[in-house]
Amino acid sequence: MRGYRHPATTLLSDAMSSRIAVLASGGGSNLQALLDHLSALGSAAPGAVVLVASDQPQALALERARLAGIEAVAMDRAQRTEGLADLLRARQVDLVVLAGYLRLVPAAVTTAWRGRVVNVHPALLPAFGGKGMYGQHVHAAVVASGARVSGPTIHFVDDEYDHGATIAQWPVPVFATDTPATLGLRVLEVEHLLFPRVVADVAAGRTVLGPDGRVTTTHDAIRFPHFAASDACGAADAHDAPPT
Ligand code: GRF
Repeated sequence: MRGYRHPATTLLSDAMSSRIAVLASGGGSNLQALLDHLSALGSAAPGAVVLVASDQPQALALERARLAGIEAVAMDRAQRTEGLADLLRARQVDLVVLAGYLRLVPAAVTTAWRGRVVNVHPALLPAFGGKGMYGQHVHAAVVASGARVSGPTIHFVDDEYDHGATIAQWPVPVFATDTPATLGLRVLEVEHLLFPRVVADVAAGRTVLGPDGRVTTTHDAIRFPHFAASDACGAADAHDAPPT
């Protein structure tokens, strides 16, 4: 089995490949990174984006979807609240991905798709998260705090803002000369690497949310360069050790 089939969907779907819905409110650069990554994986892709939905009719994310030949839905208030679960079921969605989506996902969705809703947040949760912490607000708060590290968090979504179990984080330095804008660009660059790879792992069933609320994975989406370096040091140490 290549993709994960969510029990909330019917068995009418073809091929075992996760059907992914992306919810986005803005520019959709993370959506684009996901589309590009899945396309680069080719036949090894564990899923496909079948729906992009937005609470903002003018969101560039919707335009990106149309250009890629993916159904794009501008949701009104009813559709993004009590109607969202029905929309996702109608499209037989297995995995819901929030890529810059500014609305709270209804509990009907986070419950039925438990462990199948993933969000990207542009700071190291649990710091700098919660209601109102989005976009430049996040980076402004990080800069103002004097923290010298930030970076994206990819996490499972529950019915609170920025609250579910963390799947992956990647540190990004914060420089004393940073503005919220310069920091935001540096973090976004890393989001584009980390987010699609984590989504692919969840889509493939390689990364799961256990019944105990803990994340288990058989695959680390990205190896940190300095881990590779320390592995190399380990090899050199072993090589230099005197024979026993
Ligand atoms: C990203 O920084 C993401 O972490 C946050 O919203 C932003 C969305 O950017 N949740 P884009 O729309 O993907 O370009």
